[in-house]
Amino acid sequence: MKKVLIALIVFALAPSISLAGPKIEVLHWWTSGGEAAALKVLKDDFAANGGEWLDMPVTGGGGDAANVTLKARIVAGDPPSASQIKGPTIQEYDQEGVVAPYNIDAIAQSEGWDNLLDPMIAAVHKCQNNSGPYCAAPVNIHRIDWIWANKEVFDNNGLSIPTTWDELNAAADTLKAAGIIPFAHGGQPWQDATVFEAVALGIGGNNYYKNCYVKLDENCLRSETTVKVFDQMRKLANYTDPGSPGRDWNVATGMVIEGKAGFQIMGDWAKGEFTAAGKEPGVDYYCASTPSNNGYLYNVDSFIFYKTSDPDKQAGQKLLAKLMMGKNFQKVFNLYKGSIPARLDVPMDEFDDCAKKSNADIKTAGASGGLVPSFAHGMAQGNTMKSALQDVVTEHFNSSMSSVDAANALADAVLANM
Ligand code: BGC
Repeated sequence: MKKVLIALIVFALAPSISLAGPKIEVLHWWTSGGEAAALKVLKDDFAANGGEWLDMPVTGGGGDAANVTLKARIVAGDPPSASQIKGPTIQEYDQEGVVAPYNIDAIAQSEGWDNLLDPMIAAVHKCQNNSGPYCAAPVNIHRIDWIWANKEVFDNNGLSIPTTWDELNAAADTLKAAGIIPFAHGGQPWQDATVFEAVALGIGGNNYYKNCYVKLDENCLRSETTVKVFDQMRKLANYTDPGSPGRDWNVATGMVIEGKAGFQIMGDWAKGEFTAAGKEPGVDYYCASTPSNNGYLYNVDSFIFYKTSDPDKQAGQKLLAKLMMGKNFQKVFNLYKGSIPARLDVPMDEFDDCAKKSNADIKTAGASGGLVPSFAHGMAQGNTMKSALQDVVTEHFNSSMSSVDAANALADAVLANM
């Protein structure tokens, strides 16, 4: 009894000390319904493993606003412990010396990431010019070149999913004549660029896309093909409604979900919105790739970890990296997110037909030279070049600029930022 009393007194007098445990501050731009539902899977997993999650969401689809906030924090010497990031930027931040000293590489080695990822995806996540230790972790593969169509609207107007850009224009004309907004679009630079790259891949073909938007070849950018791509962009601009400028992408998806518009061209995070609204592919909506020659524009969501001297945050970084690459997590998260797992060994049987199509098409595209990185989502170029391309695309989309002038402006912008 005496011992118990002493223990109680000692406990009562002890200063309140918090128990050290894994902690993470995560900067991201996943704020829509579907995105938040997917992220919750990770937050719940982290908490279930004893971790404390400090959320730092920065609203704005495509991550342009989040990237500005991230850069500002890095410049100020106060990076978060982890952030959402895209392909080439991983190397940029590594060269700036702000990336954690590869403390997740031990996790990557013990979990065998090299055997779980496609070598090309694995390399994106390795610092020291893509061949050193792992410093970032992938959670998914999003496809950009999709059409999302309201089934009832298409069926009632006798439309089937277009397989060429001319068919797409004809479908849009039919909808317009029927008094329906054909193309649900949010007029924001990154959304314009998202549509543009799907059109560029489709009209120009796989080699054209690689030459222009990966290799940044000047002649390619000034070519007649680029002029044709801008011609198609002008047509699409005329299929939007007056409410388009500034509209968020998920609001545009909502217009398709509700049958207020015919279709949207958007990456498969749009599917996350259909899922969150309880809609099913083939029943409520159609998903189809935008017309191309077996092309596939890929976009991987990754997380990178920054230098910190806080041992709780270091533990948090390791825990987060391990959870993100977990087999069950990659399944459940991607069921909500609309993407497919980055891990190659996740069974696809619980996924819907759109995800199964993505999973099949990525293999076909990989085998036939059509697997290309999205520039609009920072996979092909770093943030500066991405913005330079995006600015021209959006300027053309929102003005009466001619296609020839736009093609030349694109080449000039690239040269000015080389
Ligand atoms: C990201 C997606 C996100 C989308 C809209 C893309 O850049 O890869 O995860 O859902 O932007 O914000």
